[in-house]
Amino acid sequence: MKRRTLLAAVAAAVAAAALPAAAQSQKLKVGFMLPYSGTYAALGDAIEKGFRLYVAEQGGKLGGRELEYVKVDDESDPAKATDNVNKLIKRDNVDVLVGTVHSGVAMAMAKVAKDNGTLLIIPNAGAVAVTGPMCAQNIFRSSFSNWQPGYAMGEVAAKRGAKKVVTITWKYAAGDESVGGFKEAFEKAGGQVVKELSLPFPNVEFQPLLTEIAAAKPDAVYTFFAGGGAVKFVKDYAAAGLKKTIPLYGAGFLTDGTLEAQGADADGLLTTLHYGDGLDNPKDRAFRAGYHKAYNAVPDVYAVQGYDAAQMLAIGLNAAKGDVTRMADIARAIEAAKIDSPRGAFTIGASHNPVQDMYLRQVVGKDNKVIGVATKALADPGRGCKM
Ligand code: PHB
Repeated sequence: MKRRTLLAAVAAAVAAAALPAAAQSQKLKVGFMLPYSGTYAALGDAIEKGFRLYVAEQGGKLGGRELEYVKVDDESDPAKATDNVNKLIKRDNVDVLVGTVHSGVAMAMAKVAKDNGTLLIIPNAGAVAVTGPMCAQNIFRSSFSNWQPGYAMGEVAAKRGAKKVVTITWKYAAGDESVGGFKEAFEKAGGQVVKELSLPFPNVEFQPLLTEIAAAKPDAVYTFFAGGGAVKFVKDYAAAGLKKTIPLYGAGFLTDGTLEAQGADADGLLTTLHYGDGLDNPKDRAFRAGYHKAYNAVPDVYAVQGYDAAQMLAIGLNAAKGDVTRMADIARAIEAAKIDSPRGAFTIGASHNPVQDMYLRQVVGKDNKVIGVATKALADPGRGCKM
């Protein structure tokens, strides 16, 4: 063999052998795009804490690779979302995107992730479109679809004898779709949504709408609010004297991570969600102990979703030996997995949304006490998803 050919052959062999090893030794860059300010700030914080807890439990590595993080405050502002996600992908060269809370921001993230083929794990935002018409091999959700808790509460409200219900929420995808899920189940069971009230996100001037509710005298009210807005809504509902006369039902975000601030005004409220207090399964007990030790805090649903986002990433990366470009292997592994979540084990459906139990919870003191399963193994219909 000529010297030049030999050198070239040696160089090629070295490159081939070294590539995976080099990739392995490089840190995996995770881009957290979350709200760190505004009405959803506490939610973003809990998601990051949950994610980091799982990674710490694995000794700081997933799929054999150490992680590093880049953080962007998305401010729950859809108008800034495309720029923010493009910066993470193009400037910061993240390998994986983790985000976000707000459905409008998440839809912009999903569009960019789909166009670029970047792995995206959504640790909250329930936008139905993301696991519907926008679904893709590289997009997963560790949380819920907005339709799921709403649908479960529609069944509960009908069973509890409500006939006429008024709904109230923020006017954007999450509110609309949560009410949509509620209405679908409630009207199927013979109930009627007589009025749909809303205000722009993230406004909290509830007074005129509460006056309308008082005048309409429905059997019950169904609501989607979350974070800081949920705190204010529950307090205003009680202050208006409505809590004593008209049952308030909500998607569980109404009272998750908010009870400290809501105090007695939340007492007794019924909500539906895929997590709650007192589940008492071994995974949840260990998770709560670990979270308390790391942060001296009690975890909420958002912390669970962050923790499970990291679990799903680990499952995918393990199957792909740490190589985030092997998307088919990553997707197959996550699709086949049973995820050992504090909420109870769940699977990922064909449109990449969790198939999970919806619990009925009641506020008792500082707890969203689980009092039953509202709907078992509820799958989002994934309407319009073609992978
Ligand atoms: C959403 O925008 O999809 C959303 C935000 C906060 C929640 C739940 C859903 O708690």
